[in-house]
Amino acid sequence: MEGFRVLGGEILEGQVRLDGAKNAVLPILAASLLPEGETVIRDCPDIRDVHAMAGILKTLGCDCFWRRGVMRIQNSGLKHWEMPDGLSKQIRSSIFLLGPILGRLRRATVTYPGGCEIGLRPIDLHLKGLRALGVQIVDEGGAIYCDGSKMHAGDVYFDYPSVGATENVMMAAALLPGVTTIHNAAREPEIEDLQQFINRMGGRVHGAGTQLIEIEGVQALHGIDYAPIPDRIVAGTLMCAAAVTGGRVEICNVHPWDLIPVMDKLKEMGCRIAEEGEALTVDAPERLRAFSILQTQPHPGFPTDMQAQMLAAACLARGTSVIVENVFENRLSHVADLCRMGADIRVSGRTAVVQGVEALRGQRVTARDLRGGAALVLAGLAAEGETVVENIGLIDRGYARLEEMLSGLGARIQRIQLTTEEHHVSAAFTP
Ligand code: EPZ
Repeated sequence: MEGFRVLGGEILEGQVRLDGAKNAVLPILAASLLPEGETVIRDCPDIRDVHAMAGILKTLGCDCFWRRGVMRIQNSGLKHWEMPDGLSKQIRSSIFLLGPILGRLRRATVTYPGGCEIGLRPIDLHLKGLRALGVQIVDEGGAIYCDGSKMHAGDVYFDYPSVGATENVMMAAALLPGVTTIHNAAREPEIEDLQQFINRMGGRVHGAGTQLIEIEGVQALHGIDYAPIPDRIVAGTLMCAAAVTGGRVEICNVHPWDLIPVMDKLKEMGCRIAEEGEALTVDAPERLRAFSILQTQPHPGFPTDMQAQMLAAACLARGTSVIVENVFENRLSHVADLCRMGADIRVSGRTAVVQGVEALRGQRVTARDLRGGAALVLAGLAAEGETVVENIGLIDRGYARLEEMLSGLGARIQRIQLTTEEHHVSAAFTP
């Protein structure tokens, strides 16, 4: 089993470049089933979820090649509509392959992707949206059988602005004759990127980024060469790394306008943030101030994917910070390990009250979900002594070699092999 070994106390300084956004690339990989022919995705992050999604496309009959940040998908071989059980469960976002498979083949079978570390992750809104397009869905024994032979454009209303359900309907409707409308659509930047991707392929989607999206179906789509938006959550994580170490970090290719809530909170904590076009620099104070309250919301509210990282920063800030996780029902699992590191956090339901402390102490801790694991690494950067983070495969799902990015900014962090006993083979830190 691999782990990260972090020696705290270094001040992070330097420049970093972002890959394409995981949460843009995953739906774009799904949408690459829609056209006939080859699609090229640039700045494609070398992360587990992307390779898992490519693995599913291969089982459906596509060819996928990832090399040095470029993913090529050749889908002329798309012939299967059944998603293998193991793969559906391996990656939750397999559920938004339903839309494109139905869009191309008019039938699909998928097993319930199931919950994950942060919640039950139901798919009722996905199924509601597809039923509004005339898909006959039978839900039997954990599998979902979809008959799209009578699919038609339609009006979809989402009780909650679900990101994945919005993306599923956008893709299912892209080749459907007529105009499909999505009301109360999710407004995340990754939705706008999916719209741009589909339109560059010859589609006609309008309104992404607002609550009302219209998709006018077209006869056919063609493959393209596309570079997705940069990863705003990786950017936010690195901004927090600068914040917790009192450092100064410049991110060279970011969309600051997609990070307004995160920049607002970090400024409230005393960071100076300079934006220059598609770059920004975070200059952190020696010690952060608490923010008053942080509530996660659908975009343009504060992103739930940045909650854990901001909670880690609050642990060392002067004063009391309140964090409310409104989006997922089980996304505070990083609190227990942070408390073992000396943090003072009280949790009641989805609310965490953090009383900042002078220092955290290094510990052996365990990543329990992707962003919570990243938060533990951030705490280790600021803690006194050595922190070992276990179960880092969860972190590798969304961060391509996080240890290399952080080392490049001056952190002392290494990927190590953990033995099963309660000790680890500590490699001497290479200078
Ligand atoms: C996407 O997940 C992201 N994943 C998540 O990022 C992100 O946290 C989430 O959007 C919210 O921004 C990808 O894009 C691959 P939702 P998704 O549907 O689509 C409930 C990360 O760390 N819901 O907007 O699954 C659901 O349970 C990951 O990068 C239903 O009730 O998010 C949750 O409480 C984690 N029924 C809320 O809506 C449904 O049918 C938000 O879910 C669908 C969702």
